[in-house]
Amino acid sequence: MLDGGLLHKNIIFLFALFFCLSVFATDLNNWIQKEYLVSQQKIFANISPADGLPGVVIASPSRQDPNYYFHWVRDAALVFYSLINDAHFRSSEISLDDYLYFSRRVQLAPSLSGLGEPRFNVDGSAFNGLWARPQNDGPALRVLTLLHFLEIGVHQSQREKINEIIETDIAFILSHAAEASFDIWEEIRADHFYTRIVQMAALKKGILHFDVNWKISIFDCEAVRAELENALNKHWLSEKNYFSISLNRTEGGANKVTDLDTAVILGALHAGLDQDFYFSVRDEKILATAQQLENTFQNLYEINQNLEMAPAIGRYADDVYFGGNPWYLTTLAYAELHYRLAKSLLVNPDFLVTELNISFLKQAWNIKNKTLEVGLNIKNDSAFQKLLIKSLIDRGDQFIETVRLHTTSEGSMSEQFSRKNGYALSARDLTWSYASFLTAVQTRNEILNRVVQ
Ligand code: NOJ
Ligand code: NOJ
Repeated sequence: MLDGGLLHKNIIFLFALFFCLSVFATDLNNWIQKEYLVSQQKIFANISPADGLPGVVIASPSRQDPNYYFHWVRDAALVFYSLINDAHFRSSEISLDDYLYFSRRVQLAPSLSGLGEPRFNVDGSAFNGLWARPQNDGPALRVLTLLHFLEIGVHQSQREKINEIIETDIAFILSHAAEASFDIWEEIRADHFYTRIVQMAALKKGILHFDVNWKISIFDCEAVRAELENALNKHWLSEKNYFSISLNRTEGGANKVTDLDTAVILGALHAGLDQDFYFSVRDEKILATAQQLENTFQNLYEINQNLEMAPAIGRYADDVYFGGNPWYLTTLAYAELHYRLAKSLLVNPDFLVTELNISFLKQAWNIKNKTLEVGLNIKNDSAFQKLLIKSLIDRGDQFIETVRLHTTSEGSMSEQFSRKNGYALSARDLTWSYASFLTAVQTRNEILNRVVQ
């Protein structure tokens, strides 16, 4: 039994604790809200630039060192994906019609590698200089974005345009899925986990929206989807317990010895198969890969030493581009991974703690008086379900805190931040960095709204 004085002290202590916690949380929430608006504005500013065609998404306003004043098919698809669920987008000056028009135009533009051409000039012509080409993930990402627009609802004329673009992109995936191409980081010609997983997801979701007028066969779509799924399984390295990013390298990547790469995590996020058992944010092998990457970057970067927060995350250990630093979009991807898994567990808690996923889950787990054990099925214990979801959200927030620490007071994010001192590096105002912030926060909001209800 507590005596009166002690009880009193304890109550004061508890109040103080809750006060601190909520001030802390409100402070983060306030920053997130502000940064969300900044990110939207920065994205809008990088779409349809005055000296380019409507619908162009420049990767960054930077025109030198590096020159990112181009429309990358990949970046543009991911940026438009981040706007789909955004309330301000529909009332903004930015129009989906422009993106559709420009996408169709670049699909038909003569170029050195057809639909595998990675980037276009802002006047819609292909960039024909020396570059890593083809990059075959672009059309798949465009399909995933446009299918999501269809799900949310578009006008009839937009639907027709979308169908036309998707049909062309899927035909490209069918005829090029077996072909090696350059990776998401534009460095290595090989068979890539990232390219394959987004192609597989584009076909899987494309089949559900199949249009009978398309001049492609639904049976081919299913056959190639199954081939891609088989091929993805070959990336699993059972002696190392992670998915290798690339197999059968034939060109590039002199500096890159490792095959452990955050692009695997980006692949699972961008494929968006969140309720699936395999190749999703629930997949024990994706989570095992994520944990090994996290450990790598935790040890690698000076700014990650003695940090109370989550570590800043980069592309891969031996990266040398601009000195090989953490990136905003990869660190934000880790926040999103935690939120997406939390959301998936809320929808379907039938989830087993396994040898492969336990280290990832334990890293997030912040409940002192209960321990996670291999063999536990979250479905069977609603207390664990709630606590795991809460832990995942908190861990996701820690990655946001890390990004916050390296974001300027005006809210600007570039491509990278220094591994030594955290200052912004490489392309300024990278559109994809802001898009990653939007999708992470959208998922965070969805899950918080549901948990509170
Ligand atoms: C430019 C690419 O976009 C970047 O990802 C890569 O690391 C460098 N070139 C070096 O090849
Ligand atoms: C270099 C990155 O490696 C690549 O993924 C991206 O598409 C371009 N920069 C443009 O942002």
